[in-house]
Amino acid sequence: MKYNDIRQVFLDYFASRGHKIVPSASLVPNDPTLLFTVAGMVPWKGILQGAEAPFAPRVADVQKCIRAGGKHNDLDEVGFDGRHHTFFEMMGNWSFGDYFKAGAIEQSWELLTGVLKLDPEKIRVTTHVSDEESTELWRKIAGKEAIRLGDKDNWWSAGDTGPCGPCTEMFYDFGADIENEDDRWVEIWNDVFMQFDRDANGNLTPLPKQNVDTGGGLERWAAMLQGVRDNYDTDLFVNLMRAVEDVAGVKKTADNTPSFKVITDHLRAVGFAIADGVIPSNTDRGYVIRRILRRAMRHGQMLGHRGPLLSKLYPALITEMGAAYPELAREESRVVEIIRNEENAFADMLQNGMKLLDGELPKLHDKTLPGDVAFKLFDTYGFPLDLTQMILRDRGMDVDTAGFERAMTEQKERSRANTKGTRTLWESQTELPDTDDTGKYAPTTDMESRVLSILRGGEFVQSAAAGDEVEVALDKTPFYGTQGGQVGDSGTLAMGDAVVMNIGEAARVNNVVIHKGTLTAPLAVGDVVRPAIDDKMRAQTTRAHTATHLLQAALRTVLNEDVQQRGSKVSPDSVRFDFSFGRAMTADEKQAVEDLVNKWIAADMPVEHAEMSLDAARDRGAMALFGEKYGDIVRVITAGDVSCELCGGTHVHHTGEILRAKINKEKSISSGIRRITMSVGTLAE
Ligand code: ALA
Repeated sequence: MKYNDIRQVFLDYFASRGHKIVPSASLVPNDPTLLFTVAGMVPWKGILQGAEAPFAPRVADVQKCIRAGGKHNDLDEVGFDGRHHTFFEMMGNWSFGDYFKAGAIEQSWELLTGVLKLDPEKIRVTTHVSDEESTELWRKIAGKEAIRLGDKDNWWSAGDTGPCGPCTEMFYDFGADIENEDDRWVEIWNDVFMQFDRDANGNLTPLPKQNVDTGGGLERWAAMLQGVRDNYDTDLFVNLMRAVEDVAGVKKTADNTPSFKVITDHLRAVGFAIADGVIPSNTDRGYVIRRILRRAMRHGQMLGHRGPLLSKLYPALITEMGAAYPELAREESRVVEIIRNEENAFADMLQNGMKLLDGELPKLHDKTLPGDVAFKLFDTYGFPLDLTQMILRDRGMDVDTAGFERAMTEQKERSRANTKGTRTLWESQTELPDTDDTGKYAPTTDMESRVLSILRGGEFVQSAAAGDEVEVALDKTPFYGTQGGQVGDSGTLAMGDAVVMNIGEAARVNNVVIHKGTLTAPLAVGDVVRPAIDDKMRAQTTRAHTATHLLQAALRTVLNEDVQQRGSKVSPDSVRFDFSFGRAMTADEKQAVEDLVNKWIAADMPVEHAEMSLDAARDRGAMALFGEKYGDIVRVITAGDVSCELCGGTHVHHTGEILRAKINKEKSISSGIRRITMSVGTLAE
């Protein structure tokens, strides 16, 4: 049975047993205690705990999972055996207060032996020592004597707190000739009986309902059903490995197989995580994905491959898994670009770091690399500690991790001592010229800008390293720096083809645009870089800004002419607008305002952007913001015949570009001041 068919067989069986079939939830959990979705039950935690009402008593799905970082971490095992993955698919059936132990065991047994026709002799089961009931059920339903084990094996929880309970596991015999028992008898399914909630002190409280949570690894089922002993020998991985052979130009051999396993595994983790919105970074889940990506590149290098790897393999992932997970193809251009930028940024550092390491190793007296060298690899060359450990492990060596931690703590303390409010630091740079940001209204990607100043950890520095959080001033920029309620652009700085900095937000201090973000390669004052804004984000902010003007005009039409803007925040796809008005709006008024804004959007009115003298603007009747100071030459934004405002922000050229607007809330924020929140563009649709 093909890998991709197993999913369907599983779901079809549980659909036939009255389960509602739902798609996988995101790999990014809605749960601050977890970095990733580590099991199928993560999205259902609220239901299991009784905080949310179940949407169906019986549910089945196949959930994308990542176990890398945190309590469930398989990262270090990948490549060395045939069973471990950072990304995997967990098939699961749930009972939310419906069937319990008998129903779960009976269905598991029927699917395995009745539907899939597995030999009952090849299946072993375990139960928790305390669980008489499940043990008796296995005798009755399957004629099996369960092996009874303790908490370590047969008690399950997703984290240190939350829903948990005893479980019964099923193991499949992969071959009597396999000497190692753990390789011979492989866990293929776990039925968890969620009965308790564990609090931070370890106390168990019975859950309001008895639930069932089961998990079967699709990769293992594929090996079992295809009669192979290694998950990486199943059709899906064989196909992905062929793609690696093509991209790297190297055949798979017995010696290089671990690298093929690592690369195909990591391709899935990185590809799926970024498709679900994770961005490689220096913290939390972004850092886990960065580490996984860098490990994959290191293995590419071991195969003799240089430069981007996973970004070239991503299309093969779509071929293999895109039918089951449409988000892979939908997000393709974005994912490939993010991976490629990461890979380009790390490619040179990997070469240089390896040179440093090759120079240090002969000097060592024992088999331990000093912590400060590992820290330098981390700090200057972007080598995550586990990458250095992995490289050394191949050579039978190790890292002084305590020394590494010490060096890390020292650096953190240095930078903490240096961090003050950065605005005052920039204000003190009186020599710094104003940024030429006239390019912000028609941003291009071929501007060449010079780095004038770099602020890191509270100090202006001449240069900074990859991984550093910095603020950078340039001589000219296409970035819109946060101003007039509109949030600043995000984007990148590049040198040649390689991104050197990811910019989270451009701010403004007086007339200097400050680019804030993280370096992905070293950067020095005097360097020439190509700034590029995130077009998608800008397009959304731009829509939102023009929509704000229409909102103000609509409020004045529907409520009265005295409505005055009191503040606003224009972010991608959403608007917060504060205005003077003495009472709450009625539902009809809100609807009328929303309808009017949408009518103007549908009319696709031209939006004129003009520069003129302040007097000329006054003659036109342009609205100005109360209490705001304007220069002699001002920008006037005129939307059809409904709105004319002084404004320095970015705007669409036709109102139709806004697509749609939707008022979400209207409330009081202080006496006589109301606040409306509105979404625009695709979010409003
Ligand atoms: N939540 C259980 C597991 O992950 C099914 O094994």
